[in-house]
Amino acid sequence: MNRPDTAAAGPSPALREELRSLAVELALSAGALVRDGRQAALAGGGGIDTKSTPTDVVTVMDRASEEHLRERISRLRPQDAVLGEETGGQGSREGITWVVDPIDGTVNYLYGRSDYTVSVAAVVGDPLTAGAWHPVAGAVARPETGEVWHAHLGGGAAVQGPWGEKTLTVNTVTDVGLSLLATGFAYDAGMRREQAQALVTLLPAVRDIRRGGSAALDLCAVAAGEVDAYAERGVHIWDIAAGQLIAAEAGAHIATWHSGPERPQGLLAASPGIAVQLGSLLATAYGSGEPTPA
Ligand code: IPD
Repeated sequence: MNRPDTAAAGPSPALREELRSLAVELALSAGALVRDGRQAALAGGGGIDTKSTPTDVVTVMDRASEEHLRERISRLRPQDAVLGEETGGQGSREGITWVVDPIDGTVNYLYGRSDYTVSVAAVVGDPLTAGAWHPVAGAVARPETGEVWHAHLGGGAAVQGPWGEKTLTVNTVTDVGLSLLATGFAYDAGMRREQAQALVTLLPAVRDIRRGGSAALDLCAVAAGEVDAYAERGVHIWDIAAGQLIAAEAGAHIATWHSGPERPQGLLAASPGIAVQLGSLLATAYGSGEPTPA
């Protein structure tokens, strides 16, 4: 779903704008909840549980934030479905599904690092099937700085903060060897091994790598030109739904790749001038096919 893809069936421009505005409000209100509740929730080392692996944590505030988002959405848009990182959901194939990550960057949150976000997207299509959905509006809030990145399909992307609002545009880099690449790592040890092996090819071929800990924020960094690209294997829809729209609306090329039907898909968001070069590099690094436009 790259920038010109506004013809896709779905909500009207006016509704997309309304959904964007609601996504901003939801991300900011959940963000305030998790920021203000952190100290009490994690006091004395409590408030923490684990999920897929011992390093895949969930805090009581992830759950409280998702509950808050679900409650607000069901009150304001009862006709829509919700799919969230902590309590799942089926989504809606016909209507709008709100895809929410109540805290993206939970490990940063746990350690008191500022790079965690709340990600809220309105998507159409089947959110449970890779490649069968696309976001039409979204917002990513970073509660510790008061910033919120937002976009709706066909409407461009912007970030607002205590200092005002700025339109977002990706970088114009054309040499992958001079590009700054953001990435992330899965919680599963096997997937991490594969990601580490891919870095052996990627790291010498780019300017440098950044690992921030929030995929949503990495995608906003692509949109803002703070990195030139983001690529990660094994991401979930809630990590990327809002951020990929924001990056695409800022002019990024969005593509997906995977090395086999049983493997989780990878997402690439890149400044257009390096998208093809980086796609080939990723295919070599992961021993997979070239990424295909999302
Ligand atoms: C994680 C972050 C991280 C990415 C992982 C995600 P979570 O999400 O986005 O940057 O590398 O793949 O699972 O667990 O903090 O919501």
